[in-house]
Amino acid sequence: MEGRIVFKASNICKSFPGVKALNDVSFELKSGEIFALLGENGAGKSTFIKVMSGIYQPDEGVMEIDGKSAAFPTPRSAFDAGISVVHQELNYIAVLSVAENIMMSNHLVNKLGMVDWKRMYAESKEVLSRLNLDIDPHKIMQSCSTAEKQQIEIAKALYWKAKILILDEPTSALNNAEIENLMHYLEIVKESGVAIVYISHKLEEIFRIADRVGVLRDGQQVGLMNVKNTTPDKLISLMVGRTIRDMYPKENNARGDVIMKANNLGNRVLRNINFEIRSGEILGIYGLLGSGHIELGKMIFGDMPYSEGYIEVEGKRVRIRNPSDALRAGIAYVPSERKTEGLVLIESVQQNIVTVYYEKEKKKLVNTTYNKNSSTHWIQKLRIKTPSPYTPTASLSGGNQQKVVLAKWMEVNPKVLIMVDPTRGIDVGSKTEIYQLLGEFCKQGISIIMITSEMPELLAMSDRVLVMYQGRVNGEFSRDEADQIKVVSAAIGGNI
Ligand SMILES: Nc1ncnc2c1ncn2[C@@H]1O[C@H](COP(=O)(O)OP(=O)(O)OP(=O)(O)O)[C@@H](O)[C@H]1O
Ligand SMILES: [Mg+2]
Repeated sequence: MEGRIVFKASNICKSFPGVKALNDVSFELKSGEIFALLGENGAGKSTFIKVMSGIYQPDEGVMEIDGKSAAFPTPRSAFDAGISVVHQELNYIAVLSVAENIMMSNHLVNKLGMVDWKRMYAESKEVLSRLNLDIDPHKIMQSCSTAEKQQIEIAKALYWKAKILILDEPTSALNNAEIENLMHYLEIVKESGVAIVYISHKLEEIFRIADRVGVLRDGQQVGLMNVKNTTPDKLISLMVGRTIRDMYPKENNARGDVIMKANNLGNRVLRNINFEIRSGEILGIYGLLGSGHIELGKMIFGDMPYSEGYIEVEGKRVRIRNPSDALRAGIAYVPSERKTEGLVLIESVQQNIVTVYYEKEKKKLVNTTYNKNSSTHWIQKLRIKTPSPYTPTASLSGGNQQKVVLAKWMEVNPKVLIMVDPTRGIDVGSKTEIYQLLGEFCKQGISIIMITSEMPELLAMSDRVLVMYQGRVNGEFSRDEADQIKVVSAAIGGNI
């Protein structure tokens, strides 16, 4: 359904102290299209949709809806004009039912002025079924899974007849099956004539579902084209302003001595976990949701301790009952939910970067030179886009917050670095830099346990791959043996 123009933004500018987040950005949206918005971390994507949805006011520029000029002094006014946003941090009322969330607490009433629950549930059920969703509208929101909450947000947009549906990195918290489903719902929403704005760092998703793509770089619009007429390489060079020759720079490091060994580790979720990891090696761990791959990382870090077996570090048995034990043994852990598990948002970039170091070294006195040097080092190394080391992390873009968490764990010089989805939410240019950095760590002799759900990353970066299934290791492959078919069949319980 090639549509008419439903939305137009012209010459939008928006500045924050020290940054021009949007500089003269103009886009239009057509009904029934999926428009992808691409750009490196900090390019201005989220800022643009916050302007579109009344969270921020533009400093300059105008917007139109259906040919009429529009201004959104509040999020509510944008919503009433037909703009629905599914933010990365979903906002919903946890203690209310699915139906009440879809209705946005506008309870339907009957002729007697009483809440017409029956109709509320029936209408919610109807809109959910338009997306082929089988969610009980009576269910309390907080008992829904992340994927369900997101589906409910999309249903809500349909219910309120949104003209524009904006999704900011919708797949970053979903597993592969859930991503498949999302693609399917979006097709349905698109068919109904809604214009969809889709933000994602995953190019394969964009090539799969988007019709057009706009590219931002440092707040400026640097590209606008039909997806059919472009290639991943072209998009990447537009985004980063240079070409990337090799997405996955993997070096073959000479592997050294065994650094860590897990001997028959187990707890109520995991069984008979045995592996060893050598200095300079990247051990990739893969598993489907619920296979125990995430728990494996937590177990080694003492966050979900083992009740059977033991761990050796550099040939010595260590006891790891909690994360402090793990840190002392030289094991660090970078979680995937970096925003909630990894950062103090009100504190500065610098403070976040140095905090684990002080904890680990048990240093009480603040060393300002040290703080300054190490934060400057990581800001440059990881290309963290921030006006200064003293900026509160809360005002950084999503991807740049992720980089701050990576920096803080890399700062403590661990022997074994466990990382869960190390490049989630990180743009393609910085991804490559993170891979390069992992390579440098390996050269220094650090061992990396990389728990990832991204197959290309797993296969390209791992020296060895362990595949988890139902709490056990169901496959171990060398770098040469590992391929997608073997890994996936081990992950679904196949015997190889
Ligand atoms: N509330 C704020 N206060 C100060 N600076 C901000 C604020 N929000 C965004 N910025 C800055 O504006 C720039 C653009 O950020 P934005 O969040 O739009 O990036 P993004 O393209 O969404 O990146 P990412 O892919 O990392 O999510 C960044 O430099 C960011 O630090
Ligand atoms: Mg963002």
